[in-house]
Amino acid sequence: MAVKSVYICSECGYESAKWYGKCPSCGEWNTMEEHIPSPQIKGKTAAVSKSAPSSVRKLSEINSDIEKRILSGVNEFDRVLGGGIVEGSLVLLSGDPGIGKSTILLQICQPIGKSKKVLYVSGEESARQIKLRANRLGVTTENLFVLAQTDVLSIIETIKVEKPDIVIVDSIQTMVIDGISSTAGSVTQVRESTNLFMHLAKSLGIPIFIVGHVNKDGAIAGPKVLEHIVDTVLYFEGERNYSYRILRSVKNRFGSTNEIGVFEMTQNGLKEVENPSLLMLSGRPKNASGTCVACTMEGSRPILAEVQGLVTASGFGTPRRMSTGFDYNRMSMLIAVLEKRAGYFFNGMDAYLNIVGGLKLYEPAADLSVAIALISSLKDKVINEDALAFGEIGLAGEIRAVNNCEQRIAEAVRLGFTKCVIPFHNYKSLSKEIKTSADIIPVRNIRSAFEAVSE
Ligand code: TYD
Ligand code: MG
Repeated sequence: MAVKSVYICSECGYESAKWYGKCPSCGEWNTMEEHIPSPQIKGKTAAVSKSAPSSVRKLSEINSDIEKRILSGVNEFDRVLGGGIVEGSLVLLSGDPGIGKSTILLQICQPIGKSKKVLYVSGEESARQIKLRANRLGVTTENLFVLAQTDVLSIIETIKVEKPDIVIVDSIQTMVIDGISSTAGSVTQVRESTNLFMHLAKSLGIPIFIVGHVNKDGAIAGPKVLEHIVDTVLYFEGERNYSYRILRSVKNRFGSTNEIGVFEMTQNGLKEVENPSLLMLSGRPKNASGTCVACTMEGSRPILAEVQGLVTASGFGTPRRMSTGFDYNRMSMLIAVLEKRAGYFFNGMDAYLNIVGGLKLYEPAADLSVAIALISSLKDKVINEDALAFGEIGLAGEIRAVNNCEQRIAEAVRLGFTKCVIPFHNYKSLSKEIKTSADIIPVRNIRSAFEAVSE
């Protein structure tokens, strides 16, 4: 019986028995790739299966000792993983090309190499290139072994013989399994290679890091199924024009996905940034209107960022609105609320908004500082430089409560802010120490918030 092939979309992983020019699921063109299922699985249905039953175990009898972790020695990296690298875990590190994935993985080899044996498998760079990069990064450990190879089966045999404590595979898109006809980077190759590495990681108890590139839409190139296979998915992101990078976990079977790590790319590799707020606020203008400091939660970490607004008379009939680092539609909504509910009029005015440092504010808690920055520019009134504001703005112009209020205030106080404008409904639940740590001003509406901070 001929083996029937299936077609899988390389963008979203959609499967179909028929080929399409355009994927019915994600709408991308020319992404359906042929995939031939392994013949031994064919013809096996549940009813005629000859498999022996497996034994089951009581949950209460399963050993639940805390999983063993290897510390990489880079605090920001360990924290994002939930407190170190779990033995036998498969971690996918993805991000745009050139963002620093190979750099960070090579860098952690140095502290890990003090006590553990690391194997760095590269399908992208030659051994010499890796050596040059290692020199630049100051990676000199004797315990780092390099293998420039793309054949997965040969890599697996090497790992079995060499028995390293940690394996790094850079990148999964260059890996090929001999015997699968499709090219490197295709859905089938990427998926099957990942499966093989997963089995290896689990059977030998070795943690394996795999690097995965991201396509233009920000998804991991290759099927989405890759994310389902692995234990942990880390994204390494940053703006090309800024030197800092954020490591974010979006899936973690061994920890929370709330953590981020902040790094700065320098001449000699990545440096940990222990105080990201300070980095974001450096170079703040003095006595300028149109700027207000916001406090956003990046996972469980509060980060301060400067919001800048510029409102000027428009030369055109339809005024321009532009926003960088903040949702454009939300900005338009906030301007509508300011006009209708607070009496600040922007008609005939262009409005520009920018979050300094390339940070993106997704949280509604940034609404209040955005509104204040815009009003400050509109009225050309300077905002007190020791003040900071956060709160969500509702369509009725009310300031709504936000989460993690105490943590945000504590971060502001740590960085020397003395005045915090917060939502009225958050005030009641604050502890006494927090209430006295700074001049806390609870507000119910936009106008009182603006009046509290403008000079
Ligand atoms: P790289 O780790 O090769 O990116 P990826 O593996 O994600 O594709 O990072 C390469 C970029 O980082 C490159 O553009 C140069 C820059 N870089 C530095 O600025 N300093 C350094 O010490 C290193 C090694 C790289
Ligand atoms: Mg690389």
